Amino acid sequence: MIKREIVKNVHLLAGVDWHRRLFDSLIPLPDGTSYNAYFIRGGTRNVLLDSADPRFCAEFTEALAGIDRVDYVVSHHTEQDHSGLIPAVLEKYPGAVVLASQKARDLLADHLAIAPERIRSVADGETLDIGGRTLKFIYTPWVHWPETMCTYLAEDRILFSCDFFGSHLATTDMFVSDESTVYEAAKRYYAEIMMPFRQVVAGNLEKIKPLAIDIIAPSHGPLHRKPEFIVNAYRDWILGPPRNLVVIPFISMHGSTARMVECLVDCLTTRGVKVMPFDLAVTDIGKLAIALVDAATIVVGTPTVHVGPHPMVSYAAGLAGNLRPKAKFASIIGSYGWSTRAVETIAGLVQNLKLDIIPPVLCKGLPRAKDFEALDALAGAIAAKHAGLKLK
Ligand code: FEO
Repeated sequence: MIKREIVKNVHLLAGVDWHRRLFDSLIPLPDGTSYNAYFIRGGTRNVLLDSADPRFCAEFTEALAGIDRVDYVVSHHTEQDHSGLIPAVLEKYPGAVVLASQKARDLLADHLAIAPERIRSVADGETLDIGGRTLKFIYTPWVHWPETMCTYLAEDRILFSCDFFGSHLATTDMFVSDESTVYEAAKRYYAEIMMPFRQVVAGNLEKIKPLAIDIIAPSHGPLHRKPEFIVNAYRDWILGPPRNLVVIPFISMHGSTARMVECLVDCLTTRGVKVMPFDLAVTDIGKLAIALVDAATIVVGTPTVHVGPHPMVSYAAGLAGNLRPKAKFASIIGSYGWSTRAVETIAGLVQNLKLDIIPPVLCKGLPRAKDFEALDALAGAIAAKHAGLKLK
């Protein structure tokens, strides 16, 4: 880990985790990630913004070696990939005080056993003069915990946003150099942890709108020198209408459900509807989450195991229910052996999404001509629903 200067006396300390492939024991990281901390030397006070994942303890401690004094440690977010080394920082700098949102106070004590007397709550909008530089703390809750906040460095027009606007991407680039790569990584991250709270995140976008921002400095991935790129992407993901897109997460055990999926893909494509099928036996669940950001319709494809959906389908349906995408319509297709209650189970798993359920197509054993006709009718019904909303 090296300390790199972003602008005079504002440094990035990035722990690049090149080989990490799973986050929170849940989220696939195809391109690794980074844990970005920042150090600001003010005229009278020095400030460290966040720390790093505990697995980077040795590297982070080494990177702090040239820093003689830290007066404040700003904790934007209590999740341990950013706060995990704050106890070590407090030990190294006995005079340092943690600044965090009011809600973070208890969380920092609960998760990291930081003594309450070392933590000072800052109010939403509060400013701190560190000598020639001013920090403004802006509460941005639910990106993706309730206590999250950003810091705005007014004189340098830098917004330190922690997870907000971040991307799981291991790179030596300090700034975004390839927008399409960062777009995909940032969208994956948004889909997996922020989409469930998108109404609140929309409010956070409004809140930062009046700020003049030259650089967005997140705590994962490269920094944004063109803030409008990532802010506009968030606006689209959160506020834009769903696309003329059907996402089909499915499993097939003996090929029957797969044949039904292939038929539905063809029938939808013929009608000008974009389709993305995901075989859950092999798919990267993050790719599915990305597709769910835009999908207008989710069609779940499942065989019946015992009398319910395949367990991997239940998992994906439950995940979709948790991620709360902006889809409007849903249906279920699949094959069963002798009896099934797959539809009722899946409908229950996505009940909170309040989707308009288009009549499912289930068949016993191999799909036959009448089943393919039913799938064609299903494609027609979906296309009509999308056309009714003028989806593009
Ligand atoms: Fe990057 Fe929610 O931690």
